[in-house]
Amino acid sequence: MIVVASSNGRVGIQAAMDVLKAGGTAVSAVEAGIRLVEANPEDHSVGYNSYPNILGELELDASIMNGRSLESGAVGAMRGYLYAITVARQVMEKLPHVFLAGEGAERFAAEMGHERASDLVREEIMAFREERLKRDMPAEVFDNLAQRSDLYEWVKLATDPQRTYGTVNFLAKDSHGDICAGVSTSGWAWKYPGRLGDSPIIGAGNYADNRYGAAACTGMGEMAIRACTAHSVVFYLKMGMSVEEAGKRAMADLNDLGGRFISRMNLVVLDKDGNSGGFTSHQDGTYIYQTADMDTYVEPNRTYVNIPARWDQEK
Ligand code: GLY
Repeated sequence: MIVVASSNGRVGIQAAMDVLKAGGTAVSAVEAGIRLVEANPEDHSVGYNSYPNILGELELDASIMNGRSLESGAVGAMRGYLYAITVARQVMEKLPHVFLAGEGAERFAAEMGHERASDLVREEIMAFREERLKRDMPAEVFDNLAQRSDLYEWVKLATDPQRTYGTVNFLAKDSHGDICAGVSTSGWAWKYPGRLGDSPIIGAGNYADNRYGAAACTGMGEMAIRACTAHSVVFYLKMGMSVEEAGKRAMADLNDLGGRFISRMNLVVLDKDGNSGGFTSHQDGTYIYQTADMDTYVEPNRTYVNIPARWDQEK
């Protein structure tokens, strides 16, 4: 049994391992671990008290994939409900669908009995948003953002390349050998309303298949969507590569992307035999893992793979 997570999963990895040790499934372990990150007010990239979109609205994305059946569930751009990973799991288990977005996701969350919350972002984050956006736009633009018909212009200025990452990944393998991958995020800070990243997109930010392994991404979701990164990693495992080879190969695919918006990417990987790894395009990243015989997690460095950042160089 093993749990692997992005380093901001520290607050949830023990709970995830406790689920596995009690005989619970990998799906339940992943959900338990991610819920604690979603509730953590110190993490501004996942769940409660995260950076909102450009209009100041918190929109949450999450997905979960059961590697035994390849069943999956996801929610995107969901407002007003905290535990996006649980709603994603319920989509997987209660509906004939895989992915609900926006009002549909919110309606479903209400039907599932989730409590609606109007106060998911604290004042300090809203004050930081105002201060940050006013660096790039006049006060009269900021004050009328919701009414503007040229929001697409302002979002380019307001989008902060230093806040295009974040997100939490959990991968788990249970006592039955079943593997699950889960991802939850609030997405880019100051994103365009309705923007979806890779986190809720199966194959982009999240993939699990018992026969080969699992992978999940944190970083600039647009890159992982374009390269189908999580699925690529699992495909490379399927082709017989090691965790190290598969992760590096998927990172190299990202380096081949063209275009003006290339930023950070990080992967966590778990193969069917319980080998894990982490990969990053910046120098100082770590990930965490804990096996059943460990009292606590360890936090190794991720393997660095250079992906030179490019940020709107044509501007
Ligand atoms: N990786 C999270 C996002 O881009 O939304």
